[in-house]
Amino acid sequence: MDALESSHGAVSIRLIRPKDARVLQHELLTNRSWLLPWEATNPDGAVSFDMRGSIRRLLQQYRDGAGVPFVMEHAGEVAGQLNVWGIARGSLSSATVGYWVSERFAGRGITPTAVALATDLCFTQLRLHRMEICIRPENGPSLRVVEKLGFRYEGYRPRYIHINGAWRDHYAFALTREEVPRGVLHRWVTGGVPVGASRVPDSA
Ligand SMILES: CC(C)(COP(=O)(O)OP(=O)(O)OC[C@H]1O[C@@H](n2cnc3c(N)ncnc32)[C@H](O)[C@@H]1OP(=O)(O)O)[C@@H](O)C(=O)NCCC(=O)NCCS
Repeated sequence: MDALESSHGAVSIRLIRPKDARVLQHELLTNRSWLLPWEATNPDGAVSFDMRGSIRRLLQQYRDGAGVPFVMEHAGEVAGQLNVWGIARGSLSSATVGYWVSERFAGRGITPTAVALATDLCFTQLRLHRMEICIRPENGPSLRVVEKLGFRYEGYRPRYIHINGAWRDHYAFALTREEVPRGVLHRWVTGGVPVGASRVPDSA
């Protein structure tokens, strides 16, 4: 298999490394109020700031085939994390994407570029069929990410993921491989994203 890394312009994604712990821990601690409302939490306990342990667990999940933990970089500087998790193989062949960037990197199109790169890698190298992104209805910036890339609105999931200390409702968006035969990045940069694909119906 080719190395799991990819880039477009100044944005690149690569597998997380144990030595990213220091910079990621610093970013998480200095971006607390920025990240807190959207942060996945443990329903059974406190949030851990042990980045070394967290990277160890992510890399173990990667070796087990359950996930792919990327860091997003902008011009070679670590901007945030993009985590492919919950990989299901076989007749489902699906996974979910989560992400964050530090506040100072926001608004530069880093996340949509990285999501497009990661989704294309998952479709081609990992042979996955479907990629999903779940977003709280209140998270306008993240809804813009799926809108830019044309992830298709699939439905409303009440009390779906434990975020910032409680079970939160989410909207689910997804793409299958057949919808983007030349890739998510290609479709986006060539202006081929269908208008309204990510539109949430009023009933939701
Ligand atoms: C959601 C998030 C990952 C988007 O990443 P990004 O790299 O900034 O993505 P983009 O550059 O495409 O910006 C997306 C939208 O964010 C908003 N935005 C831009 N700059 C911003 C800033 N400084 N502060 C807040 N929002 C901003 C804009 O609405 C933008 O849409 P636009 O390009 O149409 O104006 C980022 O805001 C983030 O990390 N937020 C905190 C964690 C989080 O919400 N994770 C996702 C959970 S589902």
